[in-house]
Amino acid sequence: MTPTARLVSPATTAVHSPSTDWRRTHTCGDLRSAHVGSTVTLNGWVAARRDHGGIYFVDLRDRYGITQVVLGPELADAVKLGPEFTISVRGKVVARDAANVNHDRPTGAVEVVADRLEILSRSKTPPFPIDAEEEVSLETRLQYRYLDLRRAAMRGNLVHRSRFINAMRRAFERQDFVEVETPILTKATPEGARDYLVPSRVHPGEFYALPQSPQIFKQILMVAGLDRYFQVARCFRDEDLRADRQPEFTQLDMEMSFVEEDDIFRTWEQVLHETFRDAMGVEVAIPFPRMSWLEAMERYGVDKPDVRFGLELKEAGAWARTCEFALFRDAIVSGGRVKALVVPPAHELSRKDVEDGLTQIAKGAGAGGLAWWRAGQEGGVGPLARFCKGSAAAELMAAIGANEGDLCLFAAGARDTVWKVLGELRSHLGKRFGLVPPNTWSFTWVTQFPMFEWDAESKRWFSAHHPFTAPVDWDLGGPDVDASSPKLGDLYSRAYDLVMNGWELGSGSVRIHKSDLQQRIFTILGIGPEEQQRKFGFLLEALSYGAPPHAGFAIGLDRLTALSMGLDNIRDMIAFPKTASAADLMCDAPSIVDPAQLAEVHIKSTVPPKKP
Ligand code: AMO
Repeated sequence: MTPTARLVSPATTAVHSPSTDWRRTHTCGDLRSAHVGSTVTLNGWVAARRDHGGIYFVDLRDRYGITQVVLGPELADAVKLGPEFTISVRGKVVARDAANVNHDRPTGAVEVVADRLEILSRSKTPPFPIDAEEEVSLETRLQYRYLDLRRAAMRGNLVHRSRFINAMRRAFERQDFVEVETPILTKATPEGARDYLVPSRVHPGEFYALPQSPQIFKQILMVAGLDRYFQVARCFRDEDLRADRQPEFTQLDMEMSFVEEDDIFRTWEQVLHETFRDAMGVEVAIPFPRMSWLEAMERYGVDKPDVRFGLELKEAGAWARTCEFALFRDAIVSGGRVKALVVPPAHELSRKDVEDGLTQIAKGAGAGGLAWWRAGQEGGVGPLARFCKGSAAAELMAAIGANEGDLCLFAAGARDTVWKVLGELRSHLGKRFGLVPPNTWSFTWVTQFPMFEWDAESKRWFSAHHPFTAPVDWDLGGPDVDASSPKLGDLYSRAYDLVMNGWELGSGSVRIHKSDLQQRIFTILGIGPEEQQRKFGFLLEALSYGAPPHAGFAIGLDRLTALSMGLDNIRDMIAFPKTASAADLMCDAPSIVDPAQLAEVHIKSTVPPKKP
């Protein structure tokens, strides 16, 4: 759609002077050969200015594109123009000579020969060129974000994000979902991160928490009978930041009543199919494959597998149990695992690659070392060769599906470490050998996560997803379950993740909709009756008024839109992101506030004032 019709609104009075007819008739992306001969007015920024002996050629840029403008010597202000000045030009559209047509630009067949120029606003020399592909430091980009966002790629990201979210909204509306806004000033919701707190002026000594997610509210909306809820929800989490994490981010959050896992999966498959189609013209294949968490860990070593390439983990436990290598045998006898990655000879790895690079990665993931073997029926090569005498070599090759000459990398030890070590090696090798096909979106549902995770430091259980997630086994071993029982670590939950290209895109679960079971889960998590009432009494109360069975899901919109554009950092999909230390460099937040303002909210800082 061309925005021209909307832009030219004669009814409004220009606040700007001196002339009243400076406003654009077309955008800098509109003009084509069909416009030749017409008189137009363009507004935009000076992207480039070339002096051809008193005649200036200006590349005029706005959100929609770049148009070349020719300014003759009679336009006195032309000489004053600097980069990023904002101007209005009026002139005639003329065809460029065949030799001068710029085939890289949609407007490249024409130029505007100006008869009037008005400088709407001047610009200081920008700290970096807007249109060059030049590397600019992150700090400078974030400090001058308005200039960074003037760059075509960044602007394109924001436009893409907007289209994507709107397409998603329409897809949910087609399925009869109701968009509801839940509070930002609220009470802590446990999603595993620290809360951002907001002191109350009216209630001295009391605090709101910014929502880590709308989790409890959306469940309460189900109790209220909304049946199908969604929201583009801003969430806040005070946690360590990485490429895929920001302290404030956006979820497409949803919840449904009278449903189970299947219904959530089908709903999202439809929504994502329609969204990719409408926003990008991409047909995403549905339904998405599903695999249990255990299968993901056993095959890929991670709960967010990139399934676009093979190199799966192979089981070597049965062979290891009776082999001559004591370290492998001991691992199995002590309840651990031995697994392998089998790398075909086409992916060349030298002894040095394995013993330096790959071994470092394995050690970083918790392995004591990395046992390797170049497979061969005659015993093969490498440190493991001496344990592969006689039939042992052929047996090992059969066990792990290795062929003559394949490089086999082994991890032995505790189950979780073995997974982690081989999972990280797999991901490294996938990148190193370019095994990942570009521009592909590969979604997978990962289901049935563990219900609880034991934290050795605080000696207590935590929810692997969140405390409102239903267990697969509703009985949980009976009402008198012992919260210290290690058996709780073997329980699975009805939580699921949507994984794409090795990233966790979203999470959700079937919820607990019965107050008594919810209380038992809180108890297992070490939240006693008094704390349950104080923190979650309103939820427990709501669940006791005919709560429907319900389930839901939330997708990280920053991650989804970034991945859909092939970006590997969500920062480039967020208009005003924070740095790794959670600072906004443009407006210098967080910042100290006036003591009077603190006093108003009954707060006194214990931090000594910074030296100027
Ligand atoms: P969860 O905590 O897994 O689930 O969050 C859902 C999705 O939100 C995105 N996400 C983030 N994106 C950017 N920066 C962050 N700091 C960040 N943290 C999370 C991820 C993640 O998969 N209430 C539950 C959902 C539910 O059970 O319905 C929840 O918030 O893409």
